[in-house]
Amino acid sequence: MRTPIIAGNWKMYKTVAEGRELVAGLLAGLGQVADREVVVCPPYTALYAIGEQVAGTPITLGAQEVFSESQGAFTGAVAPQMLRDVGCTYVIVGHSERRQIFGDTDATVNRKLRAALDFSLRPIMCVGESKPQRDSGQAEAIVTGQVRAGLVDVTATQLLNVVLAYEPIWAIGTGDTATAADAQAMHAAIRATLAELYGDAVAQTVRIQYGGSVKPDNVDELMSQTDIDGALVGGASLKADSFLRIIHFQ
Ligand code: PGA
Repeated sequence: MRTPIIAGNWKMYKTVAEGRELVAGLLAGLGQVADREVVVCPPYTALYAIGEQVAGTPITLGAQEVFSESQGAFTGAVAPQMLRDVGCTYVIVGHSERRQIFGDTDATVNRKLRAALDFSLRPIMCVGESKPQRDSGQAEAIVTGQVRAGLVDVTATQLLNVVLAYEPIWAIGTGDTATAADAQAMHAAIRATLAELYGDAVAQTVRIQYGGSVKPDNVDELMSQTDIDGALVGGASLKADSFLRIIHFQ
């Protein structure tokens, strides 16, 4: 049984005060969420404050990015244990915005993922194809290739702490969601790849989130799919009412 995981990726939004207000709204409406995991990923500048606010609540803290080194002369970078230090449990790696805007490659994503695991952070590794790649029939090869490359030198035991997120690039921030059937097909292909790499028993335990314009009105159908185990939510995680509705998917 895989516990569903709903994560909000705030991207480059929310000051400390705005983040606190959002989290206060979430905590007020959360209720009992014992059967699902809820994560918020604020920008670095708000991590400490939000970490304090969610301590002892059902909300878990995640960061949006991490560097692969543990310390040193890396101006502007943040190390995995620094994220642990401010209360993070999760960290997103390989988001398509990091790959496209900040030059992440499968190799750097793999290094960041392994660094996160080395310091007891749970990585949420994002994979996803572009529109031209989908239109030319390459989506599955691209995505499963990203999964393989991102998991190089990751053991089966370590994999238990990894969450994958399938985020088709063309669906991110566009309002254009993959159909539940297309998303399910890709999630099944990702799980088949994990089964090839680690065996079926391990593959069945790994959670695979869908991301890309997840909204209150499409979350129930997406979450009803066999291999969709959660959502990574951008825009709709910035308001308490819409994120709460997503958290409370049926
Ligand atoms: P979106 O973003 O929900 O705004 O499409 C998802 C993401 O980038 O993780």
